[in-house]
Amino acid sequence: MTMLKASPVISPVQERDQYKICQLARETWHLHYPGIITVKQIDYMLEQRYAPREIKRLIASPNCNWLKVELEHTIRGFGHFDENSAARSIKIDKLYVHPRAQGLGCGAALVRHAETHYGRLGFKKISLQVNKGNLAAIAFYVKAGYQKEQSIIFNIGQGFVMDDFIMSKALY
Ligand SMILES: CC(C)(COP(=O)(O)OP(=O)(O)OC[C@H]1O[C@@H](n2cnc3c(N)ncnc32)[C@H](O)[C@@H]1OP(=O)(O)O)[C@@H](O)C(=O)NCCC(=O)NCCS
Repeated sequence: MTMLKASPVISPVQERDQYKICQLARETWHLHYPGIITVKQIDYMLEQRYAPREIKRLIASPNCNWLKVELEHTIRGFGHFDENSAARSIKIDKLYVHPRAQGLGCGAALVRHAETHYGRLGFKKISLQVNKGNLAAIAFYVKAGYQKEQSIIFNIGQGFVMDDFIMSKALY
């Protein structure tokens, strides 16, 4: 018998999702990033980006482009997108799928959704920052048609840096 694979369902993150998003980010970061950055840096960056008040602030902001992806009515991941209307470009600011749901098409569905949406609105470019040691994510982005554009080291305070590639893709 052939098993039917559930399709990822994408919709905006809502205020009621904030606890789930916070938990998903914490679990994903602590399972994925050790070996790429230190646990101290993981905790520091989670506090900067995923403290409950910060999640609440982002969701409530008028131009929030934060999408969740669900499989079988459960949130499995999310993507947050920053618009730069003047430059006609989009930045993938956050893209996370829980390790238990990786490889099921959720990440690709979020990226495709954003590319289609912003392409239709006339945006010309989509880009992101990825840690140079995050080889799995780099392979995912290459598969999705992104290319390395620049290498940067970014000071984020408390002695921590982000040692990243900027990757990008043209939108048509
Ligand atoms: C990177 C990430 C968002 C990808 O999401 P995902 O749901 O696991 O990926 P998908 O299942 O949609 O995969 C899409 C395609 O990329 C490929 N791919 C995914 N991970 C890959 C890897 N490590 N190596 C090679 N190819 C990979 C898949 O095989 C798939 O190809 P296919 O369409 O031919 O089947 C997710 O794995 C993740 O959250 N990782 C940890 C956090 C992270 O690094 N986020 C990015 C921060 S910049």
